Amino acid sequence: MKDANTHQQNGAAIAPFYLPQGDEVAVFEAAAAHDLPILLKGPTGCGKTRFVAHMAARLGRPLYTVACHDDLSAADLIGRYLLKGGETVWVDGPLTRAVREGAICYLDEVVEARKDVTVVLHPLTDDRRILPIDRTGEELAATPGFMLVASYNPGYQNILKTLKPSTRQRFLAIDFDFPAPELEIPVVAAESGLPEDRVKPLVRLANKLRAMKGQDVEEGVSTRLIVYAATLIAGGMPIERAILTAMIEPLSDDADTKRGLLDLVTAVFG
Ligand SMILES: Nc1ncnc2c1ncn2[C@@H]1O[C@H](COP(=O)(O)OP(=O)(O)OP(=O)(O)O)[C@@H](O)[C@H]1O
Ligand SMILES: [Mg+2]
Repeated sequence: MKDANTHQQNGAAIAPFYLPQGDEVAVFEAAAAHDLPILLKGPTGCGKTRFVAHMAARLGRPLYTVACHDDLSAADLIGRYLLKGGETVWVDGPLTRAVREGAICYLDEVVEARKDVTVVLHPLTDDRRILPIDRTGEELAATPGFMLVASYNPGYQNILKTLKPSTRQRFLAIDFDFPAPELEIPVVAAESGLPEDRVKPLVRLANKLRAMKGQDVEEGVSTRLIVYAATLIAGGMPIERAILTAMIEPLSDDADTKRGLLDLVTAVFG
């Protein structure tokens, strides 16, 4: 599956909009130039997936995205024999396709992946850069341009779901967080079409809500949710309704907590 975020125009990939928070573009380009795998850490909705889509288009490499979960098997990544018209044929999985094509393979929420999946990554993420395919007896050498990118949210980490040091220490890593207000305001404005002066109080509110993290809410309100709220407002929804729907209800089910969060809305919007 090619990433839907990459638009083709006149044959060339147009990079999806991404406003850098720091030097992450240069770091990713250096990793790509030296064939080094990279791990993107950060809370939900802070721009990790968008960044990868942007970088893939910038580098002109195809992107294969895999959402990891605990049912995902090594065969889902590598490939399997399938019955087609009475014949068994080998069908490459997304990882194998990326290895063959010199593409970027992006493993989203990699901590959710099972042990047998992470083991497959080991020979690919050290200087061997090979993918052994047991079922066919092939040992694929990665085509130049192949790059493994993985992401995870350290906030959800628990003892059962962490990466082993032998896996972690095969990746460079970049720590992401929500953009500072002077970046988040133009990001939300660009994504939603709401003018910056109307986005400003939403971002101010988001940062007040983020300060509540850990007390009553598990995760701070994401850039994604601010974009949702701004999109609803730009579409004509009254501000309070949009905020309740996009920035309060998604954070908590607890009536007391929500009342506390709504007090912050009143503090910002009056
Ligand atoms: N720096 C940025 N430039 C442009 N858009 C951004 C940026 N940061 C966040 N966004 C916006 O935030 C939305 C959410 O970002 P994204 O989907 O990349 O989050 P994520 O970190 O991958 O989250 P998750 O861990 O839940 O998958 C994007 O669709 C985009 O609208
Ligand atoms: Mg993502």
